[in-house]
Amino acid sequence: MEIPQFKNDIRVTNRLEKELGSIIEKYPEGKVYVVVDEHTRGFCLPELQQYDFFKSIQVLELKSGEDHKNLESVVAVWNFLEENGADRKSLLINLGGGMLSDLCGFAASCFKRGLHFVNIPTTLLSQVDASVGGKTGINFNGLKNEIGVFNQPQTVIIASRFLKTLDKANFLSGYAEMLKHGLIHSKAHWDECLAFDTENIDYETLNGMIARSVAIKEHFVVNDPTEQNIRKALNLGHTVGHAFESMALHQGRPILHGHAVAYGIIVELYLSAKKVGLPMEQVEQISQWIIDTYGPFSIAKSDYEALYLKMTKDKKNEAGRINFTLIPEIGKVEINVNCEKELIIEALDYYSGMTK
Ligand code: GLY
Repeated sequence: MEIPQFKNDIRVTNRLEKELGSIIEKYPEGKVYVVVDEHTRGFCLPELQQYDFFKSIQVLELKSGEDHKNLESVVAVWNFLEENGADRKSLLINLGGGMLSDLCGFAASCFKRGLHFVNIPTTLLSQVDASVGGKTGINFNGLKNEIGVFNQPQTVIIASRFLKTLDKANFLSGYAEMLKHGLIHSKAHWDECLAFDTENIDYETLNGMIARSVAIKEHFVVNDPTEQNIRKALNLGHTVGHAFESMALHQGRPILHGHAVAYGIIVELYLSAKKVGLPMEQVEQISQWIIDTYGPFSIAKSDYEALYLKMTKDKKNEAGRINFTLIPEIGKVEINVNCEKELIIEALDYYSGMTK
């Protein structure tokens, strides 16, 4: 299958020296900075520091984890830039997962009213989702991504070789977003994701798949950069997925974002069957595949009310209606589909039955 052309500067490549060198040479010497986290300092930064042009670049390390996606970390980035003489012509390189690129993209967007930034995502989840699309921000007052701006990175460099140190669970977490891209836009991408051997990863093949997945995300972003309408397609699985993710955390049995999205997809495909005509036979096949691949995550009847309440808080809702992104067939999408509470409970019951 072919490698797509991107509309933004997105490079899916393992030739890091060449790509990074060609970007850095455009900025004044001493005015390029890199932010890493506790993981990428050890696993990824040394690869870049092999290159002569990278050796003198100032490094800031941030703490990893959602708890640190806050104003305090943004201030640490601003202090680091100020202390090291960053100006409007400087470049910030964000080397890490989605938490780091969201936070540093936001910090760069505000510093002196905006510095260029480059994302080098190092997890599959951030490669196929967070690093592309210009959503930047931090958590605030206990609310996820409450403060932020839309601002596109100058360049995104996606190198599948960083994934060689990623554990299976985190690999699958990112894979859920690729599956979602297939479901909403491309039967061919869905089929290649299902056929791919996630137990024995062929990184060359994966590179092409990542490129095709990112091109699907980019298609929706380019058509609706600030999520007023069709970008909501990217939310398939997320209305229920976010509710699962936050309930699991609350119950002391946290699950990864992509796992929550995969389980959310099961519920939302059931809704798709009832509301927009996706064949039930397909819902059953896909649901079984997801449970077999991701393992079961059980919910109790007593959780339904809390899950429903969390869905009512979803950012996509309008005028008190819970709006879902659903699919009438694989590769086609409908946004803003309102579902009644009774049907949502029925869909949760369907999900629950799948996990027994
Ligand atoms: N993660 C979905 C989006 O960027 O719109």
